Amino acid sequence: MSFPLDRPRRLRRTPPLRALVRETVLTRHDLVQPLFVRPGRDQRRPIPSMPGQYQLSVDQLLRETGSLVKRGLSAVILFGIPARKDARASGAYAAGGIVPRAVRALKKEFPDLVVITDVCLCEYMSHGHCGIVRRRGPVYRVDNDATLPLLAKAAVAYADAGADLIAPSDMMDGRVRAIRTALDRAGHTEIPVMSYAAKFASAFYGPFRDAAESAPQFGDRRSYQMDGANSEEAVREVALDLEEGADIVMVKPGLPYLDVVRQVKDTFACPVAVYNVSGEYAMVKAAARRKWVDEQAIVMETMTAFKRAGADLILTYWAKDVAGWLG
Ligand code: PBG
Repeated sequence: MSFPLDRPRRLRRTPPLRALVRETVLTRHDLVQPLFVRPGRDQRRPIPSMPGQYQLSVDQLLRETGSLVKRGLSAVILFGIPARKDARASGAYAAGGIVPRAVRALKKEFPDLVVITDVCLCEYMSHGHCGIVRRRGPVYRVDNDATLPLLAKAAVAYADAGADLIAPSDMMDGRVRAIRTALDRAGHTEIPVMSYAAKFASAFYGPFRDAAESAPQFGDRRSYQMDGANSEEAVREVALDLEEGADIVMVKPGLPYLDVVRQVKDTFACPVAVYNVSGEYAMVKAAARRKWVDEQAIVMETMTAFKRAGADLILTYWAKDVAGWLG
């Protein structure tokens, strides 16, 4: 241990001095903007529990992305809301589905934009679960192994459409390997996988499920998403996903799980993403509307905390605002 500085305030005296010794720097290249895409034309439907966020039709998605790019953002992640849902999530892997259509349009207009596609079945399932459901009367289970080929098909459909990064968020065991194998077989050996590796079963996803119309119609996600009490298990989940071929691993939600972000970064020294989720967004928005907190100050402090904890990239609904605030 080196000597502590006897007078830490000396280095806090002026803004440029503080800037010289600042340890953590946030840039717009660290940010990923989540976007919700739906069928139709000229649709820009506000999401009530997420003020400032919209379900966008492809034409409006292109407009919105134009303003993100103008602000210097370089990455978006897409979530699809299909026209119809069924018990096999066909909308998730149809070549002409909403996400492949959106990806094609985006890559045509913005070839340099990093287009990430979330891979999950919940938005496309009539019951809202992330995998194939087997029911026997009131008892149901989510069938892990029957789900894997569908996830792999979705990943390939998105890569075929031109996606730059595939992000499975379903939490089935073995899905990274299934997706990696399918991508390689389809010739997409250069397309990386960002796995939602430590994804906790969380009440903070509430507003997202309104936005994506993906709330489970029965039961909950606790048999596949992680128990919020477990950080050793998070480390095992990350190890497994890296072994299966994940290129980036994610911790989600963000603020309540910063300790997990730090642990993952220290243990694996690999690219780590954090997802600042819908509930985290909604809480600050609600308080800011009442002028109980200063939104910009709270958000910038939060983003810095993610980076300080070890995150390399941040998925956040504030990406567009932060890009503006960074000046
Ligand atoms: C799909 C998915 C969810 C989120 C991202 N991908 C919802 C869930 O697991 O219920 C949550 C994102 C957010 O809350 O902002 N499985």
